[in-house]
Amino acid sequence: MAGSKQWGVPDLVNIALPKGRLGEGVYALFEQAGYGCPSIHEKNRKLIFENPEAGVSYFWVKPSDVAIYVERGAADLGVAGKDILLEYQPDIYELLDLGMGRCRMCVAGPADFEDDPSRPLRVATKFPNIARGHYSSRSREIDIIHLNGSIELAPLLGLSDVIVDIVETGKTLLENHLAPLETIVPISARLIANQVSYKFKNAEIAAISAALEKRTVQEADQ
Ligand code: PRP
Repeated sequence: MAGSKQWGVPDLVNIALPKGRLGEGVYALFEQAGYGCPSIHEKNRKLIFENPEAGVSYFWVKPSDVAIYVERGAADLGVAGKDILLEYQPDIYELLDLGMGRCRMCVAGPADFEDDPSRPLRVATKFPNIARGHYSSRSREIDIIHLNGSIELAPLLGLSDVIVDIVETGKTLLENHLAPLETIVPISARLIANQVSYKFKNAEIAAISAALEKRTVQEADQ
């Protein structure tokens, strides 16, 4: 129960934000929605920032770790990319599409790529589950090459035939003479909630979600 929780800051809604450019924009959205936390701008080594008046506390974590903090209840709320949610399928509630960090999960490769159905397709990716799901839905046998970054190198060096990766502006592909071949799914940042917190801090979480939704709708209208 929320009252007996031994982690996070009791009585506040604990929010995990993704470090980096997306996180800065996400925090600005929380601030505009009335959930600012002035101490977050202080230059120090603090890791948790609290604003008891607004009822929230924030901490920054690696973007790919947000869902883990939320799933295990170390954070009540968090903001994670749909790519991470699809890949790791954490047991969380997805409350809201924040409409930020928009990009798409794509199959990419040489622009003139032609699949050879006589052998498994070699697919390099940071997202093996998304890649497997995509190709099993079309009964195409694949050989997954699981990399942790610089995925575009794989087809350039003959390590893979294609890649499954995030495309935002398309610049990385273009500059490496690769092209998006197929869009698998559109991606954006999502507000997610711990399932227990959602029950026991429901009023607070619902208020934050509604305030954020109002801001995202206003921004989409502008
Ligand atoms: C991501 C993705 C692509 C790039 C796409 O990489 O993996 O490499 O961004 O962006 P673009 O379409 O705007 O060029 P990231 O910066 O996360 O680094 P990574 O190489 O570690 O995956």
